[in-house]
Amino acid sequence: MHQFNTISEIRTWRKSHKHLVFVPTMGSLHAGHCQLVREAKKYADKVIVSIFVNPTQFGINEDFSTYPRTETQDCELLTAEGCDAVFLPNTEMIYGPNFQTSVRVSQVSQNYCGASRAGHFDGVATVVCKLFNIIQPDVAVFGLKDFQQFAVIEAMTRDLHLPIEVIGVPTVRELDGLAMSSRNFYLNEKEREIAPHFYRILQKARENLATKTIANVEKKAILELTNVGFVVDYFSVVRRFDLKLATENDGDLIILAAVKLGKTRLIDNL
Ligand code: PAF
Repeated sequence: MHQFNTISEIRTWRKSHKHLVFVPTMGSLHAGHCQLVREAKKYADKVIVSIFVNPTQFGINEDFSTYPRTETQDCELLTAEGCDAVFLPNTEMIYGPNFQTSVRVSQVSQNYCGASRAGHFDGVATVVCKLFNIIQPDVAVFGLKDFQQFAVIEAMTRDLHLPIEVIGVPTVRELDGLAMSSRNFYLNEKEREIAPHFYRILQKARENLATKTIANVEKKAILELTNVGFVVDYFSVVRRFDLKLATENDGDLIILAAVKLGKTRLIDNL
């Protein structure tokens, strides 16, 4: 597997490959990321992964400094998965000294994680746009656990006419249902026992939608989550295509939710 640290190395390598698929990550790779690489291989001959913990998508009181950094293991994992190249830029390379341009996707960024994490999606859209411009892939692959992030990136790619096909890959779960996430490493033993209730309650809410109003489904789920020990940030039944709050007449729905368990923020959807 090639390892690149500079934009010029990537540009030179890019020239000799016709069809390229890209998997952006912040490292601390787990089985969910391996699944993204496997899916990526279906779309092109060459797969490149980036590992970059992007400072602009973390708020001031968030976990940028403690976010797990496991580059050596990550590269071993990517080699084992048959990944062709990894891009490991540093912050100075991505954000030069006079950096002053950012990308904002106004509508789908607004609510849910966008409301609780001010500036988060501007940081995501900006770094993904930069990485797209550096790597110039034909296809880019993202996990659907961050469904709102996926919607933001789809909108940005469409609105800016970027010639890239954006693919979403279903969430990979632990055997007990907990969605895989690098932040699961923060959970202590007791919290790790509670965490699978998040998905269980999402599944129950989905069942309840067949017989109860949306407002009642949300209320019941928030109560159940609170009773088992989560602090609920949001639990919202929304329209899948534009992420607006759903009404009883809407059909194509997604439940988006974020909770805190101790110091760990977890997101999931169904
Ligand atoms: O989902 C992530 O890991 C990050 O938000 C991404 C897309 C790599 C941008 O930093």
